[in-house]
Amino acid sequence: MSVIIEPFRIKMVEPIHFTTRDQRRDLLAKAFYNPFYLHAQDIIIDLLTDSGTSAMSQEQWAGIMRGDESYAGSSSYLRFEKEVRELTGYAQVIPTHQGRAAERILFHLAGGAGKTVIANTHFDTTRANVEQSGARCVDLPCLESHDLEAVAPFKGNIDLDGLEQAIRAAGPDNVPVVILTITNNSGGGQPVSMANARAAREICHSHHIPLFLDACRFAENAYFIREREAGYKDKTLREIAMEMFRLADGCTFSGKKDALVNMGGFLAVNDEDLAQRARNLLILTEGFPTYGGLAGRDLEAMAIGLREVLDHDYMEYRIAAVRFLCNGLAARGVHAIKPAGGHAAYVDARATLPHIPPEHFPGQAVVNALYELGGVRAVEIGSVMFGEHAEHDLVRLAMPRRVYTQSHMEYVLEVFEKLMEEAPGIPGMRMTYEPPYLRHFTAHFEPM
Ligand code: F0G
Repeated sequence: MSVIIEPFRIKMVEPIHFTTRDQRRDLLAKAFYNPFYLHAQDIIIDLLTDSGTSAMSQEQWAGIMRGDESYAGSSSYLRFEKEVRELTGYAQVIPTHQGRAAERILFHLAGGAGKTVIANTHFDTTRANVEQSGARCVDLPCLESHDLEAVAPFKGNIDLDGLEQAIRAAGPDNVPVVILTITNNSGGGQPVSMANARAAREICHSHHIPLFLDACRFAENAYFIREREAGYKDKTLREIAMEMFRLADGCTFSGKKDALVNMGGFLAVNDEDLAQRARNLLILTEGFPTYGGLAGRDLEAMAIGLREVLDHDYMEYRIAAVRFLCNGLAARGVHAIKPAGGHAAYVDARATLPHIPPEHFPGQAVVNALYELGGVRAVEIGSVMFGEHAEHDLVRLAMPRRVYTQSHMEYVLEVFEKLMEEAPGIPGMRMTYEPPYLRHFTAHFEPM
């Protein structure tokens, strides 16, 4: 059979509340034309993020019931620790309430004034935590990633020549860690190849610098390696993921993506001394080292999710669903990053609404139009988020895991058809309130 179907049946449902275009026009005005202010019950299809929005499986819900809530040494922690150790090979496993908590602890210890952290691309919370420590960030996405619509297999790769040069320019002693974000979220959910990770490791280790993974979407990355990189088509996703983790010296991890849970994360490393210092910090803000800000039941669900996500049938469906959305956009003349990434479609708003210049926020205009036309919520990644430094104005349609079916995506594509019809009349936006930090979350707008 050629149709790839959802490899699950639906046992519990969450109703969607429908609204009319007129109602949505009012709701948008009340939300200052910033969909972060909308109430979730007023959304028809919510593609704001794939983070923490997964549907858990019956096994995970069963695990929730088995969760051991002992303060210290809970059996749920021990199960979680064993799972993470076997998967990653890292001896020291430190649970945290989500990914950014692991980042805060790592960069509090490894960052600091005068330090430079280098990555293929820092995700925004990673960048914020590095900069908060006083260190600076250098992003070195590979050259082919700059052309949004160029089709290349591993557009998430780090620029290896750039890496060597950046280490020399900063001085190796000032580079505490190099990070590979797999897949590269800010760069379109594009994968990093095993060869690129191996070469990055060699460069790092020749300068005695540890390599870390920001591994939130490690399983989606493994699928692309299996599909696209020579020598991997007969390996399981788990074997590929295990190999990738073992190229690095540690990782930060948000369980809200590829551990298929609604909350959770961890920091895992081999360096015992670093782990000891991390646990001392963990106790201050997250909790005792065997729960780290999570309930025992959360650790149980994360341990189960880490295995389920590497199931080949699941991942084949997952990637096919994202590809279905991306191919549908292309067929309707919507410009988007190519090839399809692992967790989201990224629409090029400047190409979609060419009459709106970047200073009038074409991404925000697309986001508002998607909501007004069809109750679809997406997120702007462009001039609103990054100010005048934005290289592109993108709109991310992130797909929650195991939540929406193919007909939901057909609906989203129909909304885009309408958007393309009405595109010439869609107005740019003016920012009427600009908060001091992370302005995209709480800024106010009005149509021009
Ligand atoms: N790293 C990457 C690559 C991420 O995508 C995220 C979160 C984090 C770290 C932080 O993890 O949210 O658990 O603290 N990304 C979400 C998103 C918020 O919508 O892409 P967290």
